[in-house]
Amino acid sequence: MAASRRPLLAANWKQNLLWQDIENYCEELRAELPEYFADSAEPPIDLLVCPPLCYLGLLGALLEDSHVLSGSQLVSTMGGGAYTGEVSAQMVADLGCDYVIVGHSERRGLFGDSEESITQRLSQAIEQDLVPILCIGEDLETRRSGRAGEYCRQQLEAQRGIISGIEPGELVLAYEPIWAIGTGENASREDAQEMAALVRSWFREHVSAEAAEAMPVLYGGSVKPANIADYFSQPDIDGALIGGASLEAASMAQMLRACMAGKES
Ligand code: 13P
Repeated sequence: MAASRRPLLAANWKQNLLWQDIENYCEELRAELPEYFADSAEPPIDLLVCPPLCYLGLLGALLEDSHVLSGSQLVSTMGGGAYTGEVSAQMVADLGCDYVIVGHSERRGLFGDSEESITQRLSQAIEQDLVPILCIGEDLETRRSGRAGEYCRQQLEAQRGIISGIEPGELVLAYEPIWAIGTGENASREDAQEMAALVRSWFREHVSAEAAEAMPVLYGGSVKPANIADYFSQPDIDGALIGGASLEAASMAQMLRACMAGKES
């Protein structure tokens, strides 16, 4: 990773963990990572937890005195009003969140999130000063046919209008190949670096050099303690978006320590 960008490890819990699990998780995190709970300078790697929406308030309260950040897995396409079941970006911001995941492949594939609704969610997030983590990534067939780069560029192109208006440093990009999510088949460090570099060069060409340099790019897809350092050592990868391996505080702490060690070496 580059020295100018703050590295970020983000836990995406998806639809997992209940109230008591979350209390236990935070207690364990406090024991494992005391530097994130000390009244001292911010640790060199940002740590972000994205619980299910209904537990954002609980997580915020449990992590109130810490350096651990919280994020939402979703925000509504709509602002406040008569939209039964929806949760607005304003509500998410009101709960103390800093980040929101947008365009995750599970939302795109299972819940019909279109490029149009992704634009709306990005717009709602930006309006509330939430930093979007925009997810892109190809499926297996696309990867095998050698069109992964073209596919991801198209996903970026679809959001070009809105992302070109985002302040440098206020957007995170996550490259998450669909075939690597929850499968144990993680991308090689070379492939992940190649895609991260491609994303950054797209930003350099279509947004600005400043935005490209300021934007953290994360890799996601079967990241675990045994492989995270491989990604973290790549020049264009600034961290990871982690699903399964983020569900235990000890594993999250292990991954963080592996990155800290990589940073110092
Ligand atoms: P896994 O780490 O479980 O593969 O999930 C990755 C992911 O989708 C994070 O958003």
